[in-house]
Amino acid sequence: MANRERIKKGFSKLLKEEKLKLIANYFENPGEVVNLLKSYWHSDSKQQQLFDEFSENTITNFYIPYGISPNVTINEKNYIVPMVIEESSVVAAASAAAKFWGDRGGFHAEVIDVCKVGQVHFGWNGDKAQLLERLPAIKQRFMDDTAAMTEKMVKRGGGVTNIQLIDFTEKIEGYYQFLVEFKTGDAMGANFINSVLEQFGHSLQNYFAEQTDLSEELRKVEIIMTILSNNTPNCRVKVWVECGVNQLDGIDEHLNGAEYAHKFKKAVDIAHIDTYRATTHNKGIYNGIDAVVIATGNDFRAVEAAGHTFASRNGHYESLSSVTINGNLFRFELEVPMALGTVGGLTSLHPLAKKSLELLGNPTAPELMMIAATMGLANNFSAVRSLTTKGIQAGHMKMHLNNILNQLNATDEEKRKARDFFKDQTVSFAGVEKYLESIRK
Ligand code: MEV
Repeated sequence: MANRERIKKGFSKLLKEEKLKLIANYFENPGEVVNLLKSYWHSDSKQQQLFDEFSENTITNFYIPYGISPNVTINEKNYIVPMVIEESSVVAAASAAAKFWGDRGGFHAEVIDVCKVGQVHFGWNGDKAQLLERLPAIKQRFMDDTAAMTEKMVKRGGGVTNIQLIDFTEKIEGYYQFLVEFKTGDAMGANFINSVLEQFGHSLQNYFAEQTDLSEELRKVEIIMTILSNNTPNCRVKVWVECGVNQLDGIDEHLNGAEYAHKFKKAVDIAHIDTYRATTHNKGIYNGIDAVVIATGNDFRAVEAAGHTFASRNGHYESLSSVTINGNLFRFELEVPMALGTVGGLTSLHPLAKKSLELLGNPTAPELMMIAATMGLANNFSAVRSLTTKGIQAGHMKMHLNNILNQLNATDEEKRKARDFFKDQTVSFAGVEKYLESIRK
């Protein structure tokens, strides 16, 4: 493995063009790399500047396909859903599931709650009773000191909704926490929550500094950190599909709808008892969710972190979706936490995120939660349907073949011939390479 020469201090201070040239020297052909990376710059320098400023040390843009899953029915409303994802078959799988369930009453969704959470982690060495005695005054101080900050959010029906003191002193000496609940309207609210929490930290220190009846030592509070929590189990959405088992007739050529419903259920049940399967099963769910989350300029790491934590709520990691069969009724359901925004942050800065939201009809944050979760269930349905019938490779391989053909610079004519040839052949890189060689001779 190459040990790259260290970059001298001050890289961040260089101009973008200088950074690019410096980095290009790490490649075999620097001139070619500069041209390639520059070819991905936006032709409008104002637009490019916007992207440069999203992050740091930017030298170019990295493209990811922006696709569409048309006609997704959620609560009897039709959506055209933008999906940003690099993995082949995900958009096709989501679209196929949307069509399948569109013919069976569509997706049903409901937001369970929109509560977000933040924490003030602090150290104090006094007696807990003394702290509890002061709790109402501390809470009041918190609210007074952040009133100006929260005023607008309160007007929109949000703000701080609960403050709870948690005693962790048995685990870490002197360590307490304020667990704070928020409602943030249509904003994801990370900045709002963190600003309020930082003020709580200052307020707590100021409050104790003024407690003249306490010893000098006890007038000091150590603010260890203040930060939102990405664990948002109560910012949660539920989405489901249901139909009579006979409406599953035809999915499997060897099983009738009722038999297939039980096979499908078994596949989902496995993801409840086996972690290896659960991880892949949930990954398939996030194929759909992340694609919408990214397309709308939301934070997919936050959404995933919350989801995987929720998937472990019963003491082991398990499937986020579940199947029930009641008599003749088949129901497939997904419940996930999801902290999303449709105003503020990247949602209003990224030109394509803005357009995604417009395409979705400018949804509220709870509506976007329902849309993203629906695409999760849609992808999960298609994945499990493929796995339990013809297997995943058949569909994947078609797309895989395209990618290989592009890598091998196949012409349109060569692609057409190769697609025809590999219709009933196993696709492998070597196989495609050999086939192209044979027709190029
Ligand atoms: C691939 O990205 C996702 C799947 O592996 C999900 C699953 O196995 O359920 C197909």
